[in-house]
Amino acid sequence: MKHEILKVLGLRALNGGVYELSLSGASKMRAGQFVELAVPGFFLRRPISVADLEDGVLTLLVKEVGEGTKKLRESVKGESVDALTCLGNGFDLSSSSPLLVGGGIGCAPLFKLAKEFAAKGIRPRAVLGFRNAEEAYYLDEFARYCDVTVATDDGSLGIKGNAVSAARDIPHDRFYACGPAVMLRAARVLGEGQISLEARMGCGFGACMGCSIKTTSGYARVCKEGPVFEAAEVIW
Ligand code: FES
Repeated sequence: MKHEILKVLGLRALNGGVYELSLSGASKMRAGQFVELAVPGFFLRRPISVADLEDGVLTLLVKEVGEGTKKLRESVKGESVDALTCLGNGFDLSSSSPLLVGGGIGCAPLFKLAKEFAAKGIRPRAVLGFRNAEEAYYLDEFARYCDVTVATDDGSLGIKGNAVSAARDIPHDRFYACGPAVMLRAARVLGEGQISLEARMGCGFGACMGCSIKTTSGYARVCKEGPVFEAAEVIW
């Protein structure tokens, strides 16, 4: 974990109440790791996964879900952001035929993962699931590095249905999923793989035990031992 003061480079609105926040000054991080940003006026920091980090520019994709993320959206260029960085453990890159499965804002960390595979000369398959066409974001960005299939609950874009069912017939040797708990739980049908969990976090660095979950080897903290776990390890 590092304590760093980042600088806002810009903010761009995407679909579905998601915005892209670009920051400078962050240390190197792996796909699956996250940062915790302090938001003025709020006691708890906001955990946000790393969507990209290239040439010193950290990209976070933030879903506006409450007062904290709304306040963060008011960030202006040049403003300082107090951040804990390099938190948690990232995805492994052991697959030679990876399948990325994202749901909603859970697609965010998979973007950096796609780029990491691409840097190894591997083009992953990706299934990105959204509620509807209006909520779909970052499709062109993903398409640069992956073969993308889109799934929407209402069928307004791509395949009608959820991301896991759309992923079932896609050949892969390992899957990497991030999204709502119900989706991650269902993702086991895809075989061997890793899932990135979300949790309510107090400290974000292993001190409060507030994010503990049950695993096959006992309790684990999402912020410290995770947020990425082997899918078969997690007890739901
Ligand atoms: S949030 Fe405190 S231990 Fe994970």
